[in-house]
Amino acid sequence: MKAAVLRSSRAALRPCTSRHLVGRSYSSTESRPERKVAILGAAGGIGQPLALLLKLNPLISSLSLYDIANTPGVAADVSHINSRAQVAGYAGEEQLVEALDGSDVVIIPAGVPRKPGMTRDDLFKINAGIVKSLCTAIAKYCPNALVNMISNPVNSTVPIAAEVFKNAGTFDERKLFGVTTLDVVRAKTFYAGKVKVPVAEVNVPVVGGHAGITILPIFCHDPNPGSMTGNARAVSKGHPTYAKPQNKHIKRTIYSKIHSIS
Ligand SMILES: NC(=O)c1ccc[n+]([C@@H]2O[C@H](COP(=O)([O-])OP(=O)(O)OC[C@H]3O[C@@H](n4cnc5c(N)ncnc54)[C@H](O)[C@@H]3O)[C@@H](O)[C@H]2O)c1
Repeated sequence: MKAAVLRSSRAALRPCTSRHLVGRSYSSTESRPERKVAILGAAGGIGQPLALLLKLNPLISSLSLYDIANTPGVAADVSHINSRAQVAGYAGEEQLVEALDGSDVVIIPAGVPRKPGMTRDDLFKINAGIVKSLCTAIAKYCPNALVNMISNPVNSTVPIAAEVFKNAGTFDERKLFGVTTLDVVRAKTFYAGKVKVPVAEVNVPVVGGHAGITILPIFCHDPNPGSMTGNARAVSKGHPTYAKPQNKHIKRTIYSKIHSIS
């Protein structure tokens, strides 16, 4: 027991050379600019892990966690992580102004996810109103912020945000984003599984939207077709829409997998 304790304290005192540890270290004297990021809907299923990930980002100096409820507890937990960003929690509409004030980036996962029996229209009706009121506040209190829209249906919530910003005279198409990274990681994972190559070697960019057939994985961009065989190699050639008949099965499987969970 004593020897084990000794070993671990020696390890702790050893100079920190591993990339992993260096990457996590942080100096308060570093000259990085102040950057405030706000998450609206921070207490939810997406908001909480997102807050954790952002707290680990050394480029962020201030992390503002806003939700209609439960944010003080979430903010307290996230604030204990020993990284640069100062964390503050805001709950309820009356604290939205403070949450947004001075934000450089605003990320919106506020709303409800699709539940069994719920149509996309049902989802739209609820989330459209939430997004509209949050974007109205963004236009007023941090009009220059980059806005990342996660709330679904992204294909519709992004245009809603655009219209709100146009009406307020603050719209800048370079500053409004629909978050569709999920489609990219899914496309890579499913494709790698199907063609049996290491997922780290796969590149499948996805263009288009974030629902049904508007999600368009570009299989032909995979950089490593040499390692693939048969149908898989054929899928990676050319635009999937024009893939040869023998590729249809793989194409259909990957597409339906991505589309069914979008
Ligand atoms: N773009 C993507 O790739 C992607 C991926 C996953 C989820 N989503 C979408 O993200 C949204 C959130 O999903 P979730 O699983 O976190 O849901 P969730 O229900 O767990 O969390 C939503 C949060 O939003 C909060 N909220 C509701 N109204 C609000 C308001 N007016 N202001 C601030 N916060 C408010 C709720 O209190 C809740 O904490 C859903 O619309 C879901 O479909 C998008």
